[in-house]
Amino acid sequence: MILWFFDSGLGWQVVMDAFQKEFPDITMILEMDREHAPYGDRSDSEICELTYTGVQRLFDRWADIVILACNTASVHALRPMQQQVFVGRHILGVTVPWAEAVVDGGYKKIWVLATEATVRTRMYKERVHILDDSVIVEEVGAPGLVPLIEQGIMMGEAIDILLREYLSRFSHDIEALVLGCTHYPLIRTSIDNIWTEVHHTKTPDIIDPGFEAAKRFNGWMRRHCIVD
Ligand code: DGL
Repeated sequence: MILWFFDSGLGWQVVMDAFQKEFPDITMILEMDREHAPYGDRSDSEICELTYTGVQRLFDRWADIVILACNTASVHALRPMQQQVFVGRHILGVTVPWAEAVVDGGYKKIWVLATEATVRTRMYKERVHILDDSVIVEEVGAPGLVPLIEQGIMMGEAIDILLREYLSRFSHDIEALVLGCTHYPLIRTSIDNIWTEVHHTKTPDIIDPGFEAAKRFNGWMRRHCIVD
């Protein structure tokens, strides 16, 4: 079995690392679409078209299982791909697993940091509320972070200025912070530092969608009859 990862840019590293820790013997291949990144600043239809095209490239290379290692692509394109565009193919996104982690973890008040394109779908709230509609879910769009990370800037004043603005919108008493973009774990140190600076507490529990997808991948394979 080979796992094929697709992301708009560098976020694949975080997701693929998490899968490699869980499944060190499985071969993994990645495909990025840096030419069109960031997806998070694009329209809904552009994100869908670019994701369909990228995933088609993987199927053209005989991919069997595709992991959509991008939250923005997952919230926009996963459902249509599974139900209309690539019916019967194995495609896994990164958003359902973290929603399960929220509910399994008993969290009742979570906030999500994500790209603007992700936040405007309100899909995160929907995903969690399908499982438990009593969980309070707030979402903050964070434009500007992905372009900096794509340039290799993971810390420093440019990142801190944006984080100060976004993290100060969060309520200080949240139980978990969801890093709703696969690029954000790459700036985890800056997130921790700025959270403490702004809220005078340590960072709440962090939920990382890539990590949760890897942890729940075996269950997904069983549900899709890929393994017994
Ligand atoms: N890494 C993608 C995500 O998880 C977004 C990056 C982009 O805006 O292209 O949402």
